[in-house]
Amino acid sequence: MKILGIETSCDETGVALYDKDQGLIADLLYSQVDLHKKYGGVVPELASRDHIRKTLPMIDQLLDEAGCSHQEISGIAYTSGPGLVGALLVGASIAKSLALAWGIPSIGIHHMEGHLLAAKLSSEPAQYPFVALLISGGHTQLLGCERPGCYAILGESLDDAAGEAFDKVAKMLDLPYPGGPEVAALALKGRKDRFKFPRPMTNKPGLNFSFSGLKTYTLNTLHGLKTINAGDKADIALAFQTAVVDTIRIKCQRALRETGYSSLVMAGGVSANVALRERLDAMATELNLNIYYPEPRFCTDNGAMIAYAGYERLIQGQTESHSINVRPRWPMTELPPIVNT
Ligand code: KG4
Ligand code: ZN
Repeated sequence: MKILGIETSCDETGVALYDKDQGLIADLLYSQVDLHKKYGGVVPELASRDHIRKTLPMIDQLLDEAGCSHQEISGIAYTSGPGLVGALLVGASIAKSLALAWGIPSIGIHHMEGHLLAAKLSSEPAQYPFVALLISGGHTQLLGCERPGCYAILGESLDDAAGEAFDKVAKMLDLPYPGGPEVAALALKGRKDRFKFPRPMTNKPGLNFSFSGLKTYTLNTLHGLKTINAGDKADIALAFQTAVVDTIRIKCQRALRETGYSSLVMAGGVSANVALRERLDAMATELNLNIYYPEPRFCTDNGAMIAYAGYERLIQGQTESHSINVRPRWPMTELPPIVNT
């Protein structure tokens, strides 16, 4: 059973083929980063137009490289939300048209469920129940996952997502978009303990996050310096990253204690952050917990996670009509269970 996955929710066109027996067979990714760089962020209309140009030729190339004909494909999974509406519509239209032409089922996948399941592409699956930490450019959420496809929100960001905060701080430091990896690279050159930034909302009970104040604190620290040299920027990048990592660690530890669960699955673009991975690994060792996260290339947006999530749902017989619907806003709590028990 081979599933074609299509991801077009934002500024990456991703296509992949997942097979029940062989696992991930092929995977192609095209990033629009150069297209959006000069605007300092994603321009939705340009994103949609570029997905239109790229998606079909990439599917052609994918099948070619995998040595697979379309007759061997049993189903198509595409990202149907959340994301940019025009970009989502491109992937949905292509997926549904191919499904109709090839006479196979299609299924719309929740982008964040794709991220969450990506850990299973390269590591042992986490045992249910577990706490999920979803941290991307648009989301920062802690979820309780009792069984496949059932998600309860334990806490979320009240303002900026963690990735968004990284991107905005990168702009302040004159680093290019997308800023997360740039801030992380600069932080490596920073001196520890020169600045101590706040850990927002950690003194109060609860599992919500807020990164907007930390962003302002970063800006005020920059403005408080008479002159700003490269070393100052690196010190600030490190102080900011350490504060985000520590805040996330405190909230994860709290979520695990409150639920009584002993496993944590981390996913989404920010989970590629090495300092965060190291800090959560250390927490897991200290507290004898299990931690799972995708390999770095599957942390940020990709087609493989959508192909895999599609496989998990299609194999349960879940499909949709050929009508094209996307959901730019879509709470994960509204998803049907993957396995009906
Ligand atoms: O999951 P993703 O690729 O797209 C969304 O669904 O949003 O996440 C992108 C976000 C961006 O904000 C990017 O700056 C951030 O993930 N990111 C990182 C790192 N790599 C990507 N943030 C911190 N450290 C990183 N190494
Ligand atoms: Zn994403």
